[in-house]
Amino acid sequence: MSLRVAILISGSGSNMVALADSMQGAHPARPCLVLSNNPDASGLDKARAMGIPTAAFDHRPFGKDRAAFEAELLKPLQQARPDLIALAGFMRVLSGDFVERFEGRMLNIHPSLLPKYKGLNTHARAIAAGDTEAGCTVHEVTAALDDGPILGQARVPVLPGDTAETLAARVLPMEHRLYPAVLRRVASGDRSLLTLSGP
Ligand code: GRF
Repeated sequence: MSLRVAILISGSGSNMVALADSMQGAHPARPCLVLSNNPDASGLDKARAMGIPTAAFDHRPFGKDRAAFEAELLKPLQQARPDLIALAGFMRVLSGDFVERFEGRMLNIHPSLLPKYKGLNTHARAIAAGDTEAGCTVHEVTAALDDGPILGQARVPVLPGDTAETLAARVLPMEHRLYPAVLRRVASGDRSLLTLSGP
């Protein structure tokens, strides 16, 4: 029996596509749901085109009531019975209660070499700090933001003249390599650290 993977997105879903594309053939997992807090996320169309069930709940009408929003998110998630949840460009912070329900079963990709640059604007911050390398990290999700055991990291150089946009364009293809590779290892029971480096 394949493991079931729910993927949470907010935007274009390119990491979701890389994950879903990888889950074929002898892969031990299959996508069971793509879920978004943004009903207009273009990634939802991509998921539908790939034949993956989708659901979306706009977080905005819930205002500051995170618990009510998360209660809505939980409904399709519980129906989909995922073994693993992959946050892939999901731009809402999840509460400790929500995260604890899926302890050890929820992964996230973050566009920095954690523990550096938790939160937003990671590439601009790496450039402003004069870093000579940047990258992305896949980690287990815990209640603390962009924290939790690191499962994989991919490094790229920061080049003279880089902007946040040019650096993001160098990191994103590495995200698309790293996340599927880590997901496959985790689905196979291997949580040892994976490191990749790119151009
Ligand atoms: C990625 O860089 C991800 O790491 C970040 O947001 C971007 C989402 O891209 N948090 P996509 O939706 O997977 O295309």
